[in-house]
Amino acid sequence: MIPFNKASITKIENEYVFDALSKKLCGDGEYTRKVYNSFLTKLQVKNMLLTTSCSHALDMTAILADIKKDDEIIVPSYTFVSTVNAFALRGAKPVFCEIEKETMNIDANKIEELITSKTKAIYPVHYAGVICDMDKIIDIARRHNLMVIEDAAQAVGSVYKGNYPAGTIGDMGCYSFHETKNYSMGEGGAIIVKDKEIFKQAEIIREKGTDRSQFIRGEVDKYTWKAIGSSFLPSDILAAMLYGQIERFDEIMQKRMNVWNAYNDAFEELEKKEKLIRPYVPEYSTHNAHMYYIILPTKEVRDDMIIKLREKGVQSVFHYMPLHTSPMGEKFGYKEGNLPITEEYAGRLLRLPMWADLSEDEVLTVINAVRECC
Ligand SMILES: Cc1ncc(COP(=O)(O)O)c(C=O)c1O
Repeated sequence: MIPFNKASITKIENEYVFDALSKKLCGDGEYTRKVYNSFLTKLQVKNMLLTTSCSHALDMTAILADIKKDDEIIVPSYTFVSTVNAFALRGAKPVFCEIEKETMNIDANKIEELITSKTKAIYPVHYAGVICDMDKIIDIARRHNLMVIEDAAQAVGSVYKGNYPAGTIGDMGCYSFHETKNYSMGEGGAIIVKDKEIFKQAEIIREKGTDRSQFIRGEVDKYTWKAIGSSFLPSDILAAMLYGQIERFDEIMQKRMNVWNAYNDAFEELEKKEKLIRPYVPEYSTHNAHMYYIILPTKEVRDDMIIKLREKGVQSVFHYMPLHTSPMGEKFGYKEGNLPITEEYAGRLLRLPMWADLSEDEVLTVINAVRECC
């Protein structure tokens, strides 16, 4: 069976993790600093803090944005639960926005009509590593005094309008370094905060609500409880693994891109015959080959194809169940039929195996299996 996902680990990650075991094991050690430096020099990402997961980074954003009970947050329903849990945990309500069928990203043209006096923030999600229509979103946010918080879990390495890395465009952004992501530390993530004062707050929240980070830098002579917070910082052992992955940034990106391009070229013909639709990447965003998905003519065809591909030795998957149709979505007053585009396209989407070390033979097997099923 060709698995759907497999992490790419070499002796580089092994060496760094082994080395980290002989050093300071808790968070914010040598390897964490090296990761920040790599992100700064390689990707122009600054003001970043590693976290134990993207879910935790998102939780931090809701605390930092001072999201409170009964606030309303505009978010796509087509996303991972963590995007919404972050602010629902603080008593806020998701206001689900429809997506664009071309990118599966939040439809920026449908945001403004959802804004009320209770709206506090917009959480765009860069699905499949394709960045949302951020200029439009930020323009709306500025006019209505709202925070923009990017769920860039899948978008590490993607760039907006040639200059702006995913996660650095809004007021805050979050990355995931989960095993299934392009660059991994097993479980992990990061928060990026634009405003210097809010960044200082982020350091405190991440360190159990204390100014321990300042203490470690020698900026204060003792540390104390300054705000609410938790333990959101990962061990330096995990940072060592991530450092190895980021050292291999170009290699991993290129290998994934080769797989993505091979699928995309092979399926052009099937798209012309209207057997499937390929992913669309708008001119304002690059993509990072995080995912290769196809949109099939109906949900029945999609479900059937998963079974047929499995019989041919190819593992394919779908996600997400639109959150507004989940039991929790219902509790927030939503029901099936509320977001027809989200529901239809979530039902037709199929994800194919996508990982850096897929061999040419394996890619060909997947392509042939899809062709035979169409
Ligand atoms: C869009 C999105 N947001 C958040 C997350 C959560 O990431 P993590 O597993 O690092 O908490 C994921 C994970 O798949 C995701 O795809």
